This record gives sequence, structure tokens and C-alpha cells, in this order.
Amino acid sequence: MGQFDGRIALITGSGSGIGRATALIMAERGADIAVLDRNMEGAEETAEKVRALGRSAKIWEADVTDFGAMAEAVKAVEGAFGKIDVLVNNAGVSSDRCPLEEVTPEMFHRSMYVHLGGAIFTTQAVIPGMKARGYGKIVNISSIQGMVGHANGATYNAAKGGVLALTKGWAREFSEWKICVNAVAPGHCLTPMPMARDTPEVLAKKAESVPFKRYGQPEEMGYAIAYLCSPEADFVTGQVISPNGGYLMVGY
Ligand SMILES: NC(=O)c1ccc[n+]([C@@H]2O[C@H](COP(=O)([O-])OP(=O)(O)OC[C@H]3O[C@@H](n4cnc5c(N)ncnc54)[C@H](O)[C@@H]3O)[C@@H](O)[C@H]2O)c1
Repeated sequence: MGQFDGRIALITGSGSGIGRATALIMAERGADIAVLDRNMEGAEETAEKVRALGRSAKIWEADVTDFGAMAEAVKAVEGAFGKIDVLVNNAGVSSDRCPLEEVTPEMFHRSMYVHLGGAIFTTQAVIPGMKARGYGKIVNISSIQGMVGHANGATYNAAKGGVLALTKGWAREFSEWKICVNAVAPGHCLTPMPMARDTPEVLAKKAESVPFKRYGQPEEMGYAIAYLCSPEADFVTGQVISPNGGYLMVGY
């Protein structure tokens, strides 16, 4: 018996990195997975890996910033699987790393629409079914940048901080239906996102800034996400777990 037997998990951005690792951990524990991404190659690879674990996986191509597309995609997932028990709002894009004076309206819109719009539009579409069944687990993916902020990351800091506020508000709003809403705020994590963006020197410097002197692995975020979506966390809502190798500790 797996702790996700009979459960259906929709994970946005699960064609790569943390979303894929989470999909595989939940599938190993019995979940069937709705893989949603705008990158179909990555989505298909995740789905194949889920099927290799003996679970069902279906893929949807959709952009989380598109309200109408997300409503359609969620309807299609519910049509195919019958329900959605678990939603992980994970799709994300890299920080616009520049001084505040260089932030453009396009950068602002992109960060707000992917991280906040994506979580809001997807949850809006999923929540009626969860309320009707009186069951649901929602995990929003924030970042250490949403907790402490980084220099030269205004739009990402703001969006990821907003994700934490959304989480707390929804935890209260949906408590009547016993729907748990929590957040995971990853520390530096070795996924295609930083690997495509940072030079080897920057990667090494960032690893050095972590008390554990290394990057986290996508699975180390996935275990925290899976815990929050599991029956072990049925009394946990409105919380944030930040797997970060001690990055946010103060003192020696
Ligand atoms: N990697 C890190 O160090 C780190 C740290 C803190 C938080 N995070 C957050 O974790 C989440 C996952 O990031 P990752 O590191 O696995 O990155 P990743 O780039 O490996 O994966 C992100 C996935 O999201 C998808 N995506 C992006 N925009 C989308 C959109 N508009 N619609 C649909 N899909 C979209 C991408 O195609 C990709 O498959 C993100 O929200 C990110 O901000 C990552």
C-alpha cells in the first residue's frame, strides 16, 4: 500500500526539475500523475518515467499564465482521471537578475503572471472539485527569495513572497472543506533553471554560501512536497517548509 494509492496529482511545470522529481516520488508512492507544462518534450519524458514506475501519467500542454487555457486543462484532467486530489503549483521561471533601475514592465508582468497568476488561475479551476469532495492538498512553490529576498531580484522576490501570502490566505479560506494549503520554499537547488542561467563560478559561489556547502537536489524538495500532500500532514495547513541546507539560519 502506498500513501498516495487512488490519488490523482496535478503538478504544473512537471516537465523538469523539482516538478518532475515530485511526480516520480508521488508515483512511487501510488499516485497517478497529470503532467502539465509548456515544454512537451520534458513532459513526455516525465510521463514515461512515471509509467515505468507502474502508474498512469497523462500530459497537458498549457501555459499557466493563460486563465482560459488553465480552465480548459483542469477540465480535461478531471475528465480523464475523474478528479484532482493534489495540486502542486510549481511552474516557475528564473529571476530577472538586474538592479531595480533596469527592471522593465515586461519582466514584472512575466514574474507576476507565471508565479502568482499561474498559482491563482490553476487553483481557481481546481478548487470547486476539491470543495465538492471535501478533500484536497495544495502545495505552492515559493523560494528562499520569497522569505528573505535577494539583491537584484525585485520581481522574483515580490512574486515568491506573494506566493507565501496566497498560501496563508487560502489555508484559512479552504479550511471549511478540510483542504490543506502549504508552501515549500526551496533553497539553491540543482535543476536546469540555475544550470542554464549561472556560470560554474556563480554556481560554486552559491554553494559556498550554504552552510551545508552544496546545492539541494530536486528530490530533496520533492520529499517535502510529498510529505505535505500525504495523509501524514492531514493536520498541517498554512505552513512553509524550506529545504535549504541551513541557508536561513542566523549566527554560527
Ligand atoms: N532551482 C532552484 O534553485 C529554485 C529555488 C527556489 C525556488 N525554485 C522554484 O521551484 C519551481 C521549479 O523550478 P525548477 O528549478 O525545477 O525549474 P525548471 O526550469 O527545471 O522547471 C520549471 C518548469 O516549469 C515550466 N514552466 C515555466 N513557465 C511555465 C508556464 N508559463 N506554463 C507552464 N509551464 C511553465 C518549465 O517549462 C519547466 O518545465 C519554480 O517555481 C522555481 O521558481 C527553484
